[in-house]
Amino acid sequence: MSKRSLAVLIPVSIAAIVIIFAGWFKQAQVQQAAQPNPSTIGEVLIGGPFTLTNQQGKPVSDTDFQGKLMLVYFGFSHCPMICPTDMATLTRAMDQLGADAAQVQPVFITIDPERDTVEKLAEFAKAFYPGFQLLTGTPEQVKVATDAYRVYAQKVEMDGGDYMMDHSAYIYLMGRDGKYLTHFQHDQPAEEIVAEVKEFMQK
Ligand code: NI
Repeated sequence: MSKRSLAVLIPVSIAAIVIIFAGWFKQAQVQQAAQPNPSTIGEVLIGGPFTLTNQQGKPVSDTDFQGKLMLVYFGFSHCPMICPTDMATLTRAMDQLGADAAQVQPVFITIDPERDTVEKLAEFAKAFYPGFQLLTGTPEQVKVATDAYRVYAQKVEMDGGDYMMDHSAYIYLMGRDGKYLTHFQHDQPAEEIVAEVKEFMQK
């Protein structure tokens, strides 16, 4: 290789490396931004006030559950897999808590208020823990709750006019004061949820 071609090749290679690295760095940033990692944040900005309606048609707000720990899950009753699975996991967790279950309020908040009416949620509730509060409201009321919990929810149109909801599926554990404690992944076993809930109960 001549000195001349080296003189061209070296700056070009450096530029290529810089571009590749910048691209990788940008992607890493995007991936990091997409994943909530509240454990590394001092003051966690998850949770907040909401006013919704439960499956009995009664108005419910976040302050109604103060004094209890709260397990909050956002989903929709038409969900084919993820939401029913998580609701079943929460039901198992509540059962496993035994007498301690009295100190924990499980809450399901719909991200699909259009289809999840009070009646629909009353029907959906039958498959799960009887003490579950299933909440719906106007799209605006639901948005207040999803924004507060930083929930991702996106309508996905399907053929034939039907739609699905693409959504994040974390289970949030909130303290007796309504403040965020921790969250669980959608495929986390009930036993792990119970263990952590019991630990926070002592605090
Ligand atoms: Ni779902």
